[in-house]
Amino acid sequence: MARVHSFPICSLLFLSSLLVFSAAGSGSEGESVITLDASNFSETVAKHPFIVVEFYAPWCGHCKNLAPEYEKAASVLSSHDPPVVLAKVDANEEKNKELASQYEVRGFPTLKILRNGGKTIEDYKGPRDSDGIVTYLKKQVGPASAEIKSAEHAGEVINEKKITIVGIFPDFTGEQYENFSALAEKLRSDYDFGHTLDAKYLPRGDSTVKGPLVRLFKPFDELFVDYQDFHIEALEKFVEEASIPSVTLFNKDPDNHPFVIKFFNNPQAKAMLFINFDAENFESFKSEYYKVASDFGGKGVGFLLGDVSAAQGAFQYFGLKEDQVPLIIIQQEQGQKYLKANLEPDHVAPWLKEYMEGKLEQFRKSEPIPESNDELVKVVVADSLQDMVFKSGKNVLLEFYAPWCGHCKKLAPILDEVAVTFQNDKDVVIAKIDGTANDIPTDSFNVNGYPTLTEILLLQRMSYEQRRSFKRGMHF
Ligand SMILES: *[C@@H]1O[C@H](CO)[C@@H](O)[C@H](O)[C@H]1NC(C)=O
Ligand SMILES: *[C@@H]1O[C@H](CO)[C@@H](O)[C@H](O)[C@H]1NC(C)=O
Repeated sequence: MARVHSFPICSLLFLSSLLVFSAAGSGSEGESVITLDASNFSETVAKHPFIVVEFYAPWCGHCKNLAPEYEKAASVLSSHDPPVVLAKVDANEEKNKELASQYEVRGFPTLKILRNGGKTIEDYKGPRDSDGIVTYLKKQVGPASAEIKSAEHAGEVINEKKITIVGIFPDFTGEQYENFSALAEKLRSDYDFGHTLDAKYLPRGDSTVKGPLVRLFKPFDELFVDYQDFHIEALEKFVEEASIPSVTLFNKDPDNHPFVIKFFNNPQAKAMLFINFDAENFESFKSEYYKVASDFGGKGVGFLLGDVSAAQGAFQYFGLKEDQVPLIIIQQEQGQKYLKANLEPDHVAPWLKEYMEGKLEQFRKSEPIPESNDELVKVVVADSLQDMVFKSGKNVLLEFYAPWCGHCKKLAPILDEVAVTFQNDKDVVIAKIDGTANDIPTDSFNVNGYPTLTEILLLQRMSYEQRRSFKRGMHF
C-alpha cells in the first residue's frame, strides 16, 4: 500500500506561515548552482571547505520559490573569496533518498551548510531571498567572531535588533578566549559574535572592564547582561537563557519572528495573551503582563504577547474566536490547555496564580453540539464525545476526518452505506468527528492522519465488500 507521508511537506505548518518566502524575479539563465546526486555527493563535498546543499523535491512549492533566488545568490557568490559553493540534491529521487535521510531531511526545502569537506554539518538558518542568502553566507564563511576595533565597528557588529555576544579580553590567548571562540563556532548560525580588547568601544555596560568577560547584547528587557563563567557548557546555557525575552512579542514585525519561533520550539508551558495592539487598554495589559512574567518567569512557563492581527494561524490552531479577545491561553507540554476569554488587565495575575495552583478547568476546542443529529452517520464533537462514545454502551465506529482531506471524501459514501446496513441495530452507532475543529483526547485515540477509523468489534459484522472498502480507507 502506498504511504503518503514518507516526507512531511511542512512539518511546522503553523510556524511556516510566519516566515516570509520571497518569490520575486524569474532569475538568471546560467547554472551557478551545482547539481549533486548519490554518485558524486561525497567526492564533491570533500573537495570544498564550505558548501551549501539544498535538498529539494520537484513538486514542492517553497522549493520553486527558492530556486531563482538560490541561483542568483550562487552566481553572486561564485566570485567570492574564500569560495562559497551552492549545490542542490533532488531528494525525491529514489537513489538520493538514503542521502537525504543521512542528512536528516524532514521537509522541503532543507538547506545544510557543510564545512571542512563535510566534516561539520549545520542547518542553514538564514533568509530565502538572494540578497539575504548572500549576506548570510558571507558572514558564515568568515570568522565566527569578528574583532571589534572601534566604536564605529561595534555599531556594525552589534545589530540593535538581534542578539550579539561580545567577549572582552585583555589579550586573545588563553583558555577563556579559546572557549569563547569554540562557542562562537558552535552557535554561529544562531547568534552574532564579536570580541574586543577594549570595552569602551561597546555601546552599553561598564566600559572600564578588562575581562575576560562575556557581554550579551539583546533588543529587549535589560538590553545587555555580563557573564564570567567560561566553561563552555555554562556559557552556552547562559546564552540560551539570556536570549529568551521575558515576554516574546508576536506581531507582524519580522524582527520579532526569530524569537517567536524560539518560543514555540521551547517545550515548556506557554502562556499567550492575545489582544489588539491598538486597543485603548493595551498599555495596562502590557504592564500587568510584564509584571506577571517577572513574578512567574523561571517557573516553567514562557510568556508571549500577541497582536490579534498577526495571530489568525494561532487562533485557528487553538480554536479561538476574535470575540473572545482579549484572551489568555496556556498550553502545557502535553497539550492540555487553559483559557480565559474577555480578559481585563486585573484578571491576569489572579488567573495565573490559579493556574499555578492547579485550580483551573481544562479548555477543550469543540464545535457546538449539533441541535439535530438525525443523519444516519452521527456527528460527534469534542463536547459530546463522552456521552455519544465512551458512555453510550454501544459499538461505535468513529471516523476522524478533515474537511480538506480527499480520501475522507471518498470514504464518505462507504460510511453512509455501512450506516444504512446498521440503521436498525440499536447497539451500533456509525459516527464521524472533524479532527481539525475538535480536540481529540490523545490518551484515548491515536490520530496521526485522516481519515482514521476506530472500530470496536464492528468489522466482523460487516459484509466482505464493506470490510475491504474500510481497509482501503484506513490505509490511504
Ligand atoms: C553529479 O552527477 C549528476 C548525474 O550523474 C550530474 O548531473 C551532475 O552534474 C554531477 N555533478 C557534479 C558536480 O559532478
Ligand atoms: C573551558 O571549557 C572546558 C569545557 O567546559 C572546561 O573544562 C574548562 O575549564 C574551561 N576553561 C575555563 C578557563 O573556564
